Amino acid sequence: AAKVFNSRLLDGIHMTITAGPTREAIDPVRYISNHSSGKMGYALAAAAADAGAIVTLISGPTNLPCPERVTRVDVISAQNMLEATEATLGKCQLFIGCAAVADYRPANTAEQKIKKDGDTMRIDLVRNPDIVSTVAHHSARPITVGFAAETQDLIRYARGKLENKKLDLIVANDVSNTAIGFNANDNAVTAIWKEGQLAIAQMGKNQLAAQLVALIAKQFFTAKN
Ligand code: CTP
Ligand code: CA
Repeated sequence: AAKVFNSRLLDGIHMTITAGPTREAIDPVRYISNHSSGKMGYALAAAAADAGAIVTLISGPTNLPCPERVTRVDVISAQNMLEATEATLGKCQLFIGCAAVADYRPANTAEQKIKKDGDTMRIDLVRNPDIVSTVAHHSARPITVGFAAETQDLIRYARGKLENKKLDLIVANDVSNTAIGFNANDNAVTAIWKEGQLAIAQMGKNQLAAQLVALIAKQFFTAKN
């Protein structure tokens, strides 16, 4: 019955969602990553498919099963994720960047396992490409939605990202509270767009995903008469 509410809101809309963490290789056995579970992105993919969208889920390493009627593309690094994302542009009408993309990667990946040597070590890091911003600045630009993970000044930082990345909407997520957000089952967010914002109280990620899909569909894919 829950599915009926959202049904067909995104009928036939081609969409791409990124989810989960990325892993940035240090050597063949080690990497830099983060605690993202992928739950929010997978919940969005399921909710969007329920709403009739044709969904490609570009996923970093997670332990989650692929939602029904969703095409999953597995990636490891931020660079892999960008390539897989770019391959969907052209057809893509709605992009949601939900992945916790590593901001930096090791400048060099060692070909062999690095042997320990000395009491300290350094790894030089270089900036990764910004996937959601690349999408938003692309000539075949879809409606572009991002997330903002913040531990302080949530709305101010999120509005800054909305503007700097040229997004249509950003979902601001307070990750200082471990009961919600990163790796939790629940989430509480504020959806922010240029002319307004909407706080969505704490609830399960599946329920929240359905609300976000409905909001995005209403804002950007409903014929306005
Ligand atoms: N993002 C991305 N590519 C990156 C980094 C982030 O696509 N290399 C996307 C995330 O998927 C999210 C949004 O940008 O939709 C915001 O991510 P966040 O980590 O909150 O912001 P950053 O711009 O990376 O800024 P910072 O981590 O410094 O706060
Ligand atoms: Ca970041």
